Amino acid sequence: MSRLLLVPLEDVVVFPTMTVTLTVDVGEEQRVLLVPRHESAFANVGTVADVSDRVRLPGGGHAVVLTGLHRGVAGAATTAPDGKLYVEVEDHPDAVPVDGRTRELEREYRAIVEELLELRGDDGRIQAFVRAISEPGTLADTAGYSPDFGFEQKVELLSTLEVTERLELAVRLQRERLAELQVRKRIRDDVESGAEQQQREWFLRRQMDSIRKELGEDDASVVEEYRAKIADAGMPDDVRQQAEKELGRLERMGEQSGEASTIRSYLDWLIAVPWSKRSEERLDPVHAREVLDADHAGLDDVKERITEYLAVRKLRADRGLDPVPAPGGDAAEGGDDRPQPRGDGEASPSGDRKRPPSRDVAAAGAILTLIGPPGTGKTSIGESIARATGREFVRMSLGGVRDEAEIRGHRRTYIGALPGRLVRALRDAGTMNPVIMLDEVDKVGADWRGDPSAALLEVLDPAQNHSFRDHYLDVEIDLSGVLFIATANVAESIPGPLLDRMEVIRFDGYTTAEKTAIARDYLWPRQLERNGLRPDEVTIGDELLETVAREYTREAGVRQLERELGTLLRKTATKIAAGSAQAPVAIDLEAVREGLGRQKHFQEAAIRTAVPGVATGLAVTGTGGDVLFVEAVRMPGERKDALVLTGQLGDVMKESARIALSYVRGHAEELGIAVETAEGEFHVHVPAGAIPKDGPSAGVTMVTALASLLSGRPVRHTVGMTGEVTLQGRVLPIGGLKQKVLAAHAAGLTDVILPERNRGDLDDVPADVREQMAFHFAMSVDEVLAVALEPSRTPAAM
Ligand SMILES: Nc1ncnc2c1ncn2[C@@H]1O[C@H](COP(=O)(O)OP(=O)(O)OP(=O)(O)O)[C@@H](O)[C@H]1O
Ligand SMILES: [Mg+2]
Repeated sequence: MSRLLLVPLEDVVVFPTMTVTLTVDVGEEQRVLLVPRHESAFANVGTVADVSDRVRLPGGGHAVVLTGLHRGVAGAATTAPDGKLYVEVEDHPDAVPVDGRTRELEREYRAIVEELLELRGDDGRIQAFVRAISEPGTLADTAGYSPDFGFEQKVELLSTLEVTERLELAVRLQRERLAELQVRKRIRDDVESGAEQQQREWFLRRQMDSIRKELGEDDASVVEEYRAKIADAGMPDDVRQQAEKELGRLERMGEQSGEASTIRSYLDWLIAVPWSKRSEERLDPVHAREVLDADHAGLDDVKERITEYLAVRKLRADRGLDPVPAPGGDAAEGGDDRPQPRGDGEASPSGDRKRPPSRDVAAAGAILTLIGPPGTGKTSIGESIARATGREFVRMSLGGVRDEAEIRGHRRTYIGALPGRLVRALRDAGTMNPVIMLDEVDKVGADWRGDPSAALLEVLDPAQNHSFRDHYLDVEIDLSGVLFIATANVAESIPGPLLDRMEVIRFDGYTTAEKTAIARDYLWPRQLERNGLRPDEVTIGDELLETVAREYTREAGVRQLERELGTLLRKTATKIAAGSAQAPVAIDLEAVREGLGRQKHFQEAAIRTAVPGVATGLAVTGTGGDVLFVEAVRMPGERKDALVLTGQLGDVMKESARIALSYVRGHAEELGIAVETAEGEFHVHVPAGAIPKDGPSAGVTMVTALASLLSGRPVRHTVGMTGEVTLQGRVLPIGGLKQKVLAAHAAGLTDVILPERNRGDLDDVPADVREQMAFHFAMSVDEVLAVALEPSRTPAAM
């Protein structure tokens, strides 16, 4: 037991075997007790240390070097007059334990420390130091050096006087420490390997990117691809700027964004327009004529006008003029050549000749419009024009087009918006100067919503169409290189302003002879091929082709004829294939009847007009010219002026009927009709009752039917007629003369009564038809009746 100066160590623990330098004033003491203290609480075990050196510090302070000796337990304390604290100290040098348990702990402790140091990455010096310690208590105290233990733990270690117990504590502490370090390492390893994994992935991704780029698939390459396409597209500057702007948006937005696909499809469309691609146009009228001739029989006037049209374009091109004259400029405006939108295609009473003189092709700015009945070759000649001029051909059907957006596209703000048909047509054509056929312009107006003609007008107007704006693309598109050709069945339902810009070429239909020629030269060979037959395997004579045309078809064009020939050949091909017929097969009438069945169309004029009161009229419908029979009967009745009309007659036709009745009544005497007979109730019917009919041109036919009825003189069965009548009995001109004459011819009529003022139109009628028929031009109704009615059987009446 000794009395020693107590040196408190604030939050520091000094173990025996340690040598420390402290800045404390220990006076003259040789030995002190170092006691750890924390917040004025002293540990009750300290380290007894010798003062091995004293140093005077420059500022007047004291420093001492203290060497730990052993543990000491602090006892009673006393304060010296100078304020220093002295304690009774019970010395506790380590006992040397001998049991195996200590040795075992010792070994374990060393093992743990080795492992710890290893984990720490010790360079071996500490290990050597630890190895050099042989005392178990001292060994346990090495734990006190560890930076990992806190003050509390070190105090606990210091306070454990019993060596084995201390060693156990040290082992426990170090083991905990080791475990902690191992976990940390594992975590670090995991983290490291995770990082490695990430790195690996990063490399793989890079590789994948470059593979995708190679395949043209990654984001960057999508943008690059568009950039390249835009650069290649030959867009006008403003379009390219617009495209680049959109591309910029796509780039910023990234592929994953929802809007990306909208932008991409917009860009796709923008690129799809063949901005700078043009076909080399061939403006050689001679070559064009050859192509047209090769593709189509007949149609001479049509071909001629097309060649003229091209010749004018060529001339303008040669002379460095716009291909298209400015509106109101040098276009020769044929004021009289615009079909009047009226009734069944009739000219107005003042109407002059309908067909424009061919000088009008000088109006090259106007849109070529092919108007005529179905199957007359309008669409197919359009294709020929494209071929003849070396342009691409696109057909754009306007039938059933509902609103302007179909032509112009929907604005991009609409979901699923698309460009209009024009842009699509350009894409399909792949060039900016194709022939675009606006098929069925007459079917546009019917169910058109919104402004019917605005979009088309703009498209067709040479003064505007170099800056056509599709709503979807929203950029200006130059359509001035496009050769627009429109087709329609009737001119009347084409919106007026549109018709105004059109250069009308009429397709009036074919004569039987023409049909026969077309069948022989074009339809038959084509159907042979379709049915897998060689030309020498099945043959047919012209007479039979004519029989098919006459007895199995009733049309202005040749579509049905081609179908019938197809049927005939299909049946023959089947027979040849089945072995029931042997090639070569010559088709005879029997084969025709067998293949096509009984005759479908008859010439009924003779039968129908056998009784008085029936007259044969000529009319034009959407499907071409036709004959119709006007029937009149008188019904005994009280009312003197009643007139019943049936057969779905339009207002104009009803008026004609009234005029006819009034005329006949008013002229009863001259017509040899008893006045009483002209009174009473009349019924006028125009058969084929399901088809609506209108127009004034049935006037003469109605007068004739009524006059025939009342006079009892039948109408001559070879006569067909057309013409408007006035109350005074004048005969006014009509339209559609050629179609009507062709219909009369096809119906087997040989005499046609026409208004005098239509005389000039007869030029349109093919010469062979003109030769086969007699034409009677009438100024007044009595001239009509003189030709139309059979001579009176009662000479007195005449
Ligand atoms: N003069 C002709 N020479 C040769 N083939 C012809 C002639 N006229 C018409 N055809 C043929 O008749 C068929 C019908 O012609 P197309 O389709 O051009 O008729 P369309 O006038 O356009 O009729 P729609 O008004 O119904 O559209 C086509 O196969 C066409 O080749
Ligand atoms: Mg067509």
